Amino acid sequence: MASKTATAIVRMAQLAAELNRHNRLYYIEDRPEIDDAEFDRLLRELQALEAEHPDRVSPNSPSQRVGSPPESGFEPHAHLSPMLSLDNAMDAPEFEAFVDRVGRVLDWDDKPLAMMAEPKLDGAGVELIYRDGTFERGLTRGDGTVGEDITGNLRHLLSVPLRLSSGQTKPPTLMSIRGEVVLPTAAFKRLNASRVERELEPFANPRNAAAGGLRQLNDIDHDRLRSLQFRAYALEDGRPKKFMKQFEILECLEEWGFLVSPECALCDDAQSAVAFHKNLLAARSTLPVEIDGTVFKIDDLALQKQLGSVSRSPRWAIAFKFPPEQATTRLLDIEAQVGRTGALTPVAKLDPVQVGGVVVSNTSLHNQDEIDRKDLRIGDRVVVQRAGDVIPQVVRALLADRKRGKDAPRRYHLPTQCPVCGDATLRLEGESVTRCPNIDCPAQLKNNVWHLASRSALDVDGLGDKIIDQLVDAGHVARLSDLFALEQETLAGLDRMGEKSAANLVANLARARETTFARFLIALGIRHVGATIAELLAGAFVKLDALMDASASKIGDVDGVGPTIAQSVASFFADPGNRTEVERLLELGVRWKEPERTAPKGSQTFSGQTFVLTGTLSAPRDHFKGLIIAAGGKVTASVSAKTHYVVAGESPGSKVTKAQKLEVEVLDEAGLMALLGEG
Ligand code: IVH
Repeated sequence: MASKTATAIVRMAQLAAELNRHNRLYYIEDRPEIDDAEFDRLLRELQALEAEHPDRVSPNSPSQRVGSPPESGFEPHAHLSPMLSLDNAMDAPEFEAFVDRVGRVLDWDDKPLAMMAEPKLDGAGVELIYRDGTFERGLTRGDGTVGEDITGNLRHLLSVPLRLSSGQTKPPTLMSIRGEVVLPTAAFKRLNASRVERELEPFANPRNAAAGGLRQLNDIDHDRLRSLQFRAYALEDGRPKKFMKQFEILECLEEWGFLVSPECALCDDAQSAVAFHKNLLAARSTLPVEIDGTVFKIDDLALQKQLGSVSRSPRWAIAFKFPPEQATTRLLDIEAQVGRTGALTPVAKLDPVQVGGVVVSNTSLHNQDEIDRKDLRIGDRVVVQRAGDVIPQVVRALLADRKRGKDAPRRYHLPTQCPVCGDATLRLEGESVTRCPNIDCPAQLKNNVWHLASRSALDVDGLGDKIIDQLVDAGHVARLSDLFALEQETLAGLDRMGEKSAANLVANLARARETTFARFLIALGIRHVGATIAELLAGAFVKLDALMDASASKIGDVDGVGPTIAQSVASFFADPGNRTEVERLLELGVRWKEPERTAPKGSQTFSGQTFVLTGTLSAPRDHFKGLIIAAGGKVTASVSAKTHYVVAGESPGSKVTKAQKLEVEVLDEAGLMALLGEG
């Protein structure tokens, strides 16, 4: 019998150790080795043994961490010794002033002063009291002298060791461990998502969620307690005499089983401390928990003692804060800027303000919807944010500060006329961006010239960015069509352009004039008209005039052309400036061969006929697709018994084999053109 009890006790200890290890792997190290079911099996085995031997249940058993609801009332309790706060340094000069002050008090001259650098954790400070290596009591900071007893809730935190592992240093009889309870960012996001799902108010930040979690009176977010992390940074009261350095304390805390921020590092002097601070700021967004600065502590404990404290802060430590990531300022105005693609971007003009370490005076508001969604008005006081390297943004307006009556801030609407060229602006249905559609708008001209010259458009060889810049800046090209009126002498006069390259460019421009209808449409840079759509439009309309005069609904009738594209094309050609420009391009010699049709335009030669295109044809497939559709036919992707014709180019592949099997007629390109009457 005795031996059976002994076996049970050994097994209980084994299970406790095993479960504690898995808890640690899961909650702290984030690399579980077993699944939840296996964990539950072990836990149930332990609970069963404990039920049989209730007198042998250890208060530190992992079974004691689950099941019991969090505490529902907090008693005030005095700290073993007061919990001090830290002085802040807001920038490098203030940090240097701290180092100078320490040097003066210690009479240290200019000798290097070693400092422990620790992340300033943005959570809730707590004190954990241990007696004989066992967790006895945990307190919130409270007023620094008296805190609230949250022992029961802290017992749920897996990073609060219930019993300390004793390594080289035996824990003293009575001691106070100080640290911060934080909620890792990932757990914070999960928590808020689940709260939103349950229609509860989300927490503003991980600090509030952590502090709230520690003091929660019911178990609505019971799992939150398990995700909270206690990170230790100090050992007060009963500190073993052998410790000489803060560095050694952190090492020992780890050895006892506490979690110590892995970013902690010893800096040899003030210079390396500043460098550490900069690196930590750069790494900030990649850390698993939120921090708001670096805490620097004089590493030598004897020097700490010598420095002592004034009022409520030690003179041997400083919190070197990161620049605030949010600031408030006045939205003075909003200006519309026209980008090189014609997009109008509203830009906030702010009363200059320091945020995230830089001065912000202008920042993009993206588009009209964004302004409306945030209800930003000119004259509002606004919150500006810049986190890390992210571009500053206006987060929201401070509505409580909004004046009424004649001083009320003004609403803003993007202009109906382009601020650069005065053309009527346009916002396509379903798009958030407002644009200037004028092909010759000075804001867009360089981009439009570049686009016209690109491979899929008129393919003008030798017209690079540098040349375009010069041509536009010098006024030689004030509108797109000017490109085809350029003379060799003008080109030869440009920087880095000899007679020979000028002659070449003139020849290339002459060659580029001979094009196709589709390429010409691409060259115009109409929004949403790329190669595929251009081929469809060219195939369907055949003549430029027909397309220029077509309504959006007629354009939308073309198979494959949706309403947004149709609206974009129709409004492009409705713009009088654009029509003039198109005519001028034609006058200056841009042209293409129009297919001659025997059948009258719009005839339905292919009505009811289905085609499949395969292999490489002499023009993009969409070109032929456009021709077939324009003649009333249909184009499908695969060959079936319903297919009337397969049009095969070079290296056609399996579709031809299939057509032969199904006895579907196979045509080559010439055969198709002959059917169309264009052979
Ligand atoms: S030491 C006597 N170290 O910051 C020194 N505090 O603003 C007491 N904090 O109340 C604190 N990270 O809650 C120390 N690595 C760190 C810290 C840290 C965050 C908190 C702590 C303290 C507050 C002071």
